[in-house]
Amino acid sequence: MFKRIKSVIFGSLVLLLLVNVNVVLAQGEALYKAKCMACHQIHKDGTGPKLFEVRKKWLDGGANAESIYTWVNNWEMSAKKDPYAQTVSTWAPIAMSNFPELKKEEIDAIFDYVDAQAPVVAVTPEVTDNEVVVEDKGPSTWFWVMIAIVLFVIVGVVSKVRRDLKNALSESKSGEEFDQSYSMELRTWAWENKKLVGLASLIIVVALIVLGFMDLNSIGIVENYQPTQPIEFPHTVHAGVNGIDCKYCHNSVTKSKTAGLPTVNVCMNCHKQINGRTSVQQEKIKNIYAAAGWNPEGAGSYTGKTKPIVWNKVHVLPDHVYFNHSQHVVIGGVDCKQCHGDMTKQKETARVLPVSELNEIEGNVKLTKPTLTMGWCIECHGEKEIHNGPLNGKNNGYYNEIHKRLLNNDKSLYDKYLKDGKVTVKELGGWECAKCHY
Ligand code: HEC
Ligand code: HEC
Ligand code: HEC
Ligand code: HEC
Ligand code: HEC
Ligand code: HEC
Repeated sequence: MFKRIKSVIFGSLVLLLLVNVNVVLAQGEALYKAKCMACHQIHKDGTGPKLFEVRKKWLDGGANAESIYTWVNNWEMSAKKDPYAQTVSTWAPIAMSNFPELKKEEIDAIFDYVDAQAPVVAVTPEVTDNEVVVEDKGPSTWFWVMIAIVLFVIVGVVSKVRRDLKNALSESKSGEEFDQSYSMELRTWAWENKKLVGLASLIIVVALIVLGFMDLNSIGIVENYQPTQPIEFPHTVHAGVNGIDCKYCHNSVTKSKTAGLPTVNVCMNCHKQINGRTSVQQEKIKNIYAAAGWNPEGAGSYTGKTKPIVWNKVHVLPDHVYFNHSQHVVIGGVDCKQCHGDMTKQKETARVLPVSELNEIEGNVKLTKPTLTMGWCIECHGEKEIHNGPLNGKNNGYYNEIHKRLLNNDKSLYDKYLKDGKVTVKELGGWECAKCHY
């Protein structure tokens, strides 16, 4: 009787403890998600360091037992009092927010929750707001290798069966053992089917040559090149939804050879105010603040600790080629879409679009050679009409001048140029090697 009561009491105590642990963990989870997750991840450094077993880390590092709680309430105070906290505060140019409202138990609840999350073994890709749907690239090489092996085995088995049948047949017919080796059999067969064998060999040789050439031809082609960027900058949000003009960020595109990329100050013109609505956005925009050395707390201030954003170049021509943006965009009147596609729809970072995708865009001159190759430049120069100056009322001082010069120089040549009703870039010298090569 007494024993039973004891075990009931013990059982209830254990139950109570379990419930209590769960309540604490749930509270910790809620607080962590509401207050810390914007900057901290559990097992990975982000804007702030990873938080897994951070209490142990502080104690092992020689911090006072209370310092970590003071840190969360007010990191500056903690840094003043404890040299360990002082070194932690130099971890990033961004300062941590203060949470004076959190009690010690609540902070412990957060850490308890964090420590209860087992380290992830298999890294799952992070889900972002504008998640990229991975295209189905069709069956892999392995698939074809498997198919080939299976076919080979089937052929082998079938021919073995056929041979056995044949052997049995000739044995039963003549009584003597049929003994022709595989290679002998094959040779006899090939001799009997000379034409077929010849044709098949020819086809195989031609196919190999064609494949080889296709491979050689694709050397130096950069279509679909899309390097990773320090910040996942989406053109859709900026040039698309918010309608920001390309020239606002690529401000030398009408004035010089290069289009130029924006400095972080250009980003800050807007992002001082815009820090993102979702945690994913905030996470990305934090990178801008880190680069600009901006502390968004309160009214915000510059800390002076900057680190430039190093964008990776996407469209790259070799050094021996001269290409000029203002010549194409201003004088030639070629739209950015013609060469870069519709950037207002580019959700991911920039990519070199294949010519097939460029051809789908309305108003583009249709080309066949791969983007950014010499063939591509030349093909367009052969097709693209320049404005006809006074002839069709599209007044452009530069072309008026050219038309006048052509007319005065050689009337018959000018008439020849205009026979198809247009003057192409080629006819103005757009195919001369020196125009594009230094
Ligand atoms: C605005 C971003 C931000 C938020 C929100 C934030 N932190 Fe931090 N935290 C940081 C940064 C940045 C550091 C690194 C210290 C530094 O460079 O100032 C840090 C450091 C820490 C450290 C020390 C880590 C170490 O490895 O020594 C702890 C502990 C910590 N934060 C706890 C919290 C908790 C708990 C919360 C939520 C209540 C929180 N932080 C919310 C940015 C943040
Ligand atoms: C808010 C600023 C901003 C606006 C507006 C903007 N861009 Fe960009 N653009 C960038 C940044 C930052 C990069 C570098 C990141 C990348 O490559 O995705 C970039 C990259 C590019 C690239 C690739 C550059 C390279 O390295 O080859 C092209 C092409 C481009 N932009 C075209 C455009 C066009 C066309 C428009 C207008 C429809 C436009 N951009 C509007 C900021 C902007
Ligand atoms: C003219 C204003 C303006 C400029 C300049 C600007 N942005 Fe933005 N940016 C915005 C707006 C508006 C949003 C959308 C915010 C939202 O959805 O709440 C945004 C969102 C973003 C996002 C989050 C996008 C997402 O949804 O994933 C990133 C990253 C970003 N900007 C990077 C940059 C970078 C890098 C630069 C400088 C090269 C820059 N921005 C310049 C206005 C601007
Ligand atoms: C006739 C084709 C063509 C047109 C039109 C064109 N670009 Fe480009 N763009 C290129 C090529 C080629 C490069 C690579 C240049 C290099 O590597 O020297 C490039 C590179 C860029 C870059 C990378 C930075 C740089 O300057 O090299 C940006 C940004 C860019 N273009 C934006 C634009 C914008 C914005 C427009 C429209 C106003 C535009 N481009 C129109 C062909 C074009
Ligand atoms: C979509 C069509 C198109 C493509 C693609 C194109 N161009 Fe052009 N290009 C033009 C037009 C239109 C002009 C005429 C501008 C003018 O009259 O000066 C021009 C003019 C030029 C000129 C000046 C020619 C002259 O007579 O002064 C050079 C150099 C040039 N392009 C180089 C290139 C290079 C290099 C590439 C490839 C990387 C290229 N272009 C790709 C349309 C194109
Ligand atoms: C409209 C511009 C343009 C003209 C005109 C032009 N080229 Fe090129 N050329 C290019 C570009 C762009 C490349 C780089 C292609 C690449 O990287 O795939 C190139 C590359 C080359 C190469 C290096 C081989 C290669 O494929 O990379 C040679 C050689 C060359 N050109 C010779 C010539 C000669 C000779 C002429 C005159 C008959 C000429 N080019 C006219 C734009 C031009």
